[in-house]
Amino acid sequence: MAAGPEAAALTPRALEGLLPRLEEARQVVLAGAGKGPLGWMDLPQHDPQPWAEFAKKTGGQFEAVLVIGIGGSALGTIALARALLPFFHNELSPEERGGRPRLYVLDNVDPEETAALIKRLRPDRTLVNVVSKSGTTAESMAGLLVVKEVFEAALGREALRSHFIFTTDPIDNALRRMGEALGIPVLDIPPGVGGRFSVLSVVSLLPSALVGIDVCGVVAGARDMAEWIKASSGWENPACAFAGVHYLEDTTLGRGTCVMMPYCARLRDVADWFRQLWAESLGKEVDRQGQIVNVGPHPVRALGVTDQHSQLQLYSEGPDDKIITFLGVREFSESVPIPTPGPEGEAVAYLGGHTLAELMWAEQKATAWTLWRRGRPSVTITLPRVDAFSVGALLYMLEVATAIAGELYDVNAFDQPGVEMSKQATYALMGRPGYEELAAEIV
Ligand code: PA5
Repeated sequence: MAAGPEAAALTPRALEGLLPRLEEARQVVLAGAGKGPLGWMDLPQHDPQPWAEFAKKTGGQFEAVLVIGIGGSALGTIALARALLPFFHNELSPEERGGRPRLYVLDNVDPEETAALIKRLRPDRTLVNVVSKSGTTAESMAGLLVVKEVFEAALGREALRSHFIFTTDPIDNALRRMGEALGIPVLDIPPGVGGRFSVLSVVSLLPSALVGIDVCGVVAGARDMAEWIKASSGWENPACAFAGVHYLEDTTLGRGTCVMMPYCARLRDVADWFRQLWAESLGKEVDRQGQIVNVGPHPVRALGVTDQHSQLQLYSEGPDDKIITFLGVREFSESVPIPTPGPEGEAVAYLGGHTLAELMWAEQKATAWTLWRRGRPSVTITLPRVDAFSVGALLYMLEVATAIAGELYDVNAFDQPGVEMSKQATYALMGRPGYEELAAEIV
């Protein structure tokens, strides 16, 4: 939806003017697919069947799967689980879950949360998947050490090899070394798959398969999207359109805040996953020539309809610095009729006879219209329904859009020096050998 009549809006000329750069960016990204930092682009061509089969063999032995990881090593798994597992999966009985394990993700070092989580786990019935691309991240390694000690005390050292799986880069690192010393299986993250671009790899597909998510469907959706992206260009190409509109709104109209607002609770954590993808990839100090640019759009996640009663006031009347992306669905698996009330409910009788699905769609449309009336731009992405195929397609489209946006902003979308600096400062403060000078500088 374009911005309303009074607002600064993208003109046909501006849209037309970006097309050559957009096509160049698409060509560069497609030419690099599968190579170097674009290794992740080929993931839809990898057969996920081994993870599905491994999960079938292993899943039944465990009643819980615990993923220990952070950032790109956790957010994709959380997004897939929220989108594709039944609601309240962990609260269902084993029969209701069809024997599939519960899923827990430890992506923080909050001591109270960690202690509470450990108390909930039965070591003899839990499989722990530690995911760290670098194999050194302090948060994930600390989580591993804490959980390993509990499991070792309960089960003995030998048993660790059947209760832990490590996932990391195929290089020597702390996690791999520990796995090898303890006889724990260590799975390789394919080359060129950065943390935030790893959702379609073993990083998220293994834990997802273990809890019964249709990972083959997810990858099939991504493959279908890859074909679409290859076969179309310009504004017909979903990744180009997403990247191009956001880039133009930011750089020509000052709308650098991108709100992703699903109107579907299942997609809530897709917005969270996207927030990391967009922020870490595009928020950069220097461009690819090394010039200081300090660019980067600011991704924000919101949830329809909940945040209509929290954020919408700001979006519609606050600074005109935002573009909103609505993630909608055409079909919910439940519609939930709203009963017609008796005379006591006359004032809300207009709701009766409708469904919650209709109310959700009406609210999405109403919000988009309200923003349009205020001249605030929005983009709408509609999934036919939330299933493995459409979620896989959506995630892959957003990843490619990020790579294309990196070309437009002329930044390296695949590094994260700001995150690395904070990782090193943490090592220094925690007394890691070799970081003494940095520790002295910080304190
Ligand atoms: O996307 C990224 O590169 C980061 O968010 C990492 O995923 C995060 O810092 C965790 O790193 P690692 O997987 O090496 O433990």
